[in-house]
Amino acid sequence: MEEKLRNLATEAKEAVEKAATLNELSNLRVKYLGKKGHLTSILRGMGSLSAEERPRVGALANEIRSQLEVLIAGRTHELKEAEREERMARETIDVTLPGKPFLIGKKHPLTKVQEEIESIFLGMGFNIAEGPEVELDYYNFEALNLPKDHPARDMQDTFFINPEVLLRTHTSPVQVRTMEKTVPNLPVKIICPGKVYRRDDDATHSPMFTQVEGLAVDKRITFSDLKGVLAVFARQMFGADTKTRFRPSYFPFTEPSAEVDISCVMCKGAGCRVCSYTGWLEILGCGMVHPRVLEMSGYNPEEVTGFAFGMGVERIAMLKYGIDDLRLFYDNDLRFLAQF
Ligand code: DAH
Repeated sequence: MEEKLRNLATEAKEAVEKAATLNELSNLRVKYLGKKGHLTSILRGMGSLSAEERPRVGALANEIRSQLEVLIAGRTHELKEAEREERMARETIDVTLPGKPFLIGKKHPLTKVQEEIESIFLGMGFNIAEGPEVELDYYNFEALNLPKDHPARDMQDTFFINPEVLLRTHTSPVQVRTMEKTVPNLPVKIICPGKVYRRDDDATHSPMFTQVEGLAVDKRITFSDLKGVLAVFARQMFGADTKTRFRPSYFPFTEPSAEVDISCVMCKGAGCRVCSYTGWLEILGCGMVHPRVLEMSGYNPEEVTGFAFGMGVERIAMLKYGIDDLRLFYDNDLRFLAQF
């Protein structure tokens, strides 16, 4: 038996030394040292040995096992090393090649324009207010002087959660929410940027869009304050030579109400395709806060007055950057977004 073991050792050692690949080595390990390998099967015959022989043979078998382990490990290392050197000789790395540029994210054009609007009004002493996008019918309509049967509700059809809860159709409810919180303190000077929703979807209307609301309430606020603030806004947003024009209009929550146009950003008022040859572009709605709205919000309309305005951020961005399709803002096409 000892002889068998010695022969096995010699044979295995030779084979390991000759092994030319890692795969071959791993097969040899299985063949000689594995559970069903040669060494194990010789040892299975140990039962027939005498009590004196057994420990000697056992010790020999263990020694052979560990010698082979060491040999295999050594040969594995040699083969790996050879393979690495061969690869190094074959592959060359050009350390002077330029690195891969990584893409840096940018702000969405609507975010940029919204932030620009915010900073203009912050500069005039307004604070930023917020309100919920899922809104009560009461704030979205009722408290803005649009009772349940009011025909002007039709222009702002929306998504209803239930008969009293809806997705807000404009940022105007934040006027009421803000006044309820500030009463009786004065002055109130806020703008509210945010998403609004309507049942509308075509090239110039999206079911979700962005507005910025403005509200100023104080003693002796007049229509000239409104005109002054919006003229400053238009000049800062569209350039110092921008003119503003106020046209009479109607909103249930303001009286009097107006729509504001700016001189066309493309033709400067001469008339072109963008302004339909009128020289003017409509940018927002505004007016003096309706006494009933002040009253419902807790202020006394005999003592205070206010102005309000609301503008669409998409529209401002389209005019500012000359974008002709509203849907581009929501498609997330990087070729569009990378331009801003
Ligand atoms: N909420 C109006 C809309 O979405 C816009 C608006 C008009 C807001 C006049 C106002 C305002 O604050 O005074 O159509």
